[in-house]
Amino acid sequence: MSDVYVTTPIYYVNDLPHVGHVYTTLVADTVARQRRLAGDEVYFLTGTDEHGQNIERAARERGVAPIELADRVVGRYHELWAEHGVSHDDFIRTTEARHRAGVEEMIRRIEAAGDFYAAAHEGWYCPACETFYTEKELDADRRCPVHETPTEWKSEENVFFRLSRYQEPLLELYERRPEVVRPETRLNEVRAFVAGGLKDLSVSRAGLEWGIPFPGRPGQTVYVWLDALTNYVSALGFGSGDDADGGDALYRRFWAAESATRVHLIGKDILRFHAVYWPAFLLSAGLPLPTTVWAHGWWLRDRRKVSKSSRNLVDPEPLARRFGTDAVRYFLLRDMVFGQDASFSDEAFVDRYNADLANGLGNTVSRVVTLSRKAFDGRTPPEPCDDNPVMRAAAECVAEYREAMDGFAFQRAIAALSRLLDAANQYLVEREPWKRIKEEGGSAGVSRVLWNCLEAVRIVAVGLLPVMPKTAPRVLAAIGAGEPPAGLGAMAWGGLPKGAPLPEPEPIFPRIDKDEYLADAAAPAVAAGSAAPTETAGDAGPTDDSEDGMIDIDKFFETELKVATVTAAERVPKSSKLLRLEVDLGGERRQLVAGIAKEYEPDALVGRQVVVVANLRPATLMGVESQGMVLAASVDGAPVLLHPERPVPPGTRVR
Ligand code: MSP
Repeated sequence: MSDVYVTTPIYYVNDLPHVGHVYTTLVADTVARQRRLAGDEVYFLTGTDEHGQNIERAARERGVAPIELADRVVGRYHELWAEHGVSHDDFIRTTEARHRAGVEEMIRRIEAAGDFYAAAHEGWYCPACETFYTEKELDADRRCPVHETPTEWKSEENVFFRLSRYQEPLLELYERRPEVVRPETRLNEVRAFVAGGLKDLSVSRAGLEWGIPFPGRPGQTVYVWLDALTNYVSALGFGSGDDADGGDALYRRFWAAESATRVHLIGKDILRFHAVYWPAFLLSAGLPLPTTVWAHGWWLRDRRKVSKSSRNLVDPEPLARRFGTDAVRYFLLRDMVFGQDASFSDEAFVDRYNADLANGLGNTVSRVVTLSRKAFDGRTPPEPCDDNPVMRAAAECVAEYREAMDGFAFQRAIAALSRLLDAANQYLVEREPWKRIKEEGGSAGVSRVLWNCLEAVRIVAVGLLPVMPKTAPRVLAAIGAGEPPAGLGAMAWGGLPKGAPLPEPEPIFPRIDKDEYLADAAAPAVAAGSAAPTETAGDAGPTDDSEDGMIDIDKFFETELKVATVTAAERVPKSSKLLRLEVDLGGERRQLVAGIAKEYEPDALVGRQVVVVANLRPATLMGVESQGMVLAASVDGAPVLLHPERPVPPGTRVR
């Protein structure tokens, strides 16, 4: 048993959470849960990064104080983590006093080591990364390599950190402890970057109000990355003194202790900060280093990183609302090879869900539970079995699962569980217990066959506990295995109770009708008709081409809005959400598909007037062509149709 400290990045509060943020946090949660089940003492930290120019700017754009914006977004993060069952022990905000104390202490130590000096600083600056880039890191238009947005030339007097001093110590660290950066490709990247020479780093900003004042350097504010990285120790009480508020006992236990394992989970976009700057700050301050910085890849959509600045946000919420947060957790962990990039699509989600959860786990549970109830009077089989092909498959599965989980290869760990289910299903097909029940009833042979299959499901469900904390316990209850076990030791063969009551099976993972789901997902809640839109994570900021979110009137007039009278309406077959409308657009007849079937009865719409986007390229939804889009206000995602205040001739322009 050991002490394990697991952290996520702290997320910026100028952005509502999207799938990327959710992903890192769910991975961290899975690691935390798995290590707890493996018997370790875990401390799991997440939080928010609230200072800096970016946040100040976003708050100004919305006409609110930075702290108000932060409070709002933090509230959303709290809700989201609660919905997803994230089991963090603490949530740090960089605007908290305890964090400021930690940053001040860090700076005192680095100052004492003689690693700060003042100098003029100029260069190309990305406000979104809050970092300077060298000319050679930028493209011909001097765009940020991460955000692909223009950088700005900036010049000011700053405090510098002597990063150049740490080139050799860092190279020596990567050599001596290669596990400090994972996966290996990222270590190689970082090593090459450091070997290429390290320039001193500007760690303060002049004239920035929204941040921590730099101790002993009037007029300077601590650079957000020095501020943010310190959260990993300030949250544990570093800098709080020994006796205040529980003091730094957690820091001593989970960071300073030689024996503690300290894991930072991050996306590859912030690798340099964590694998170069952070260890250098810590070396300078004389503090222990992280055990491992684990950098995963990006979730991509249309081959680009999912991000606010790319405006290709993926909001996992609709999926989570419809299929449960565990299904989303399962998909994200199963479909990304941890460390590499992966593509997010609704289709991939539905395919994975149907194959692994509905057909795989769900069907196996209902099949074996039904058979066992029938043969053994509503109970689990009375006779276990301890030498058979399923047991051998289980031994292989458990060994592979544990090894893969320890190595952060979640996709491989989950695939090992799927293979065990496959083995159980194959065994079931070969032994045909349904035939034998007819002939032998609840014989010892039937008992052994069914017990083996239920036992395989039990082992799979225990292995899924860290990944699906809400539904894995339901699977255990469904197969008569009772409450979830406290440890992964329960993956050993033989744990299923004999003769335990089996509840009537109820579907845990109902199958998704792919065509219907994809058509519904393509139809926005309000209306349908345009090419499938990408989901957005809400009003997190300007989402059009201009810098300030405003458009010219000409741009508005490009959209042809017209009043139309509905002449016919009916449901689109097999869709719960879509209606097919026929409308009169002033002598012109059009067919529209609208995602309003849950709120409007077709008959009640005939004769009503609606407002339509008349110059949209047609799109086909569930096999029906839509030649325009009906406008509606979206109230919590539910459409409320717009119509003129009094009847007007159909085809009248709206402007
Ligand atoms: N505030 C800094 C981190 C400071 S840590 C001391 C920051 N915040 S962020 O809000 O931009 O979140 C970045 C993290 O979100 C990434 O490192 C990654 O963990 C996650 N992701 C954001 N977009 C992502 C994808 N498209 N795909 C996967 N994860 C990504 O940077």
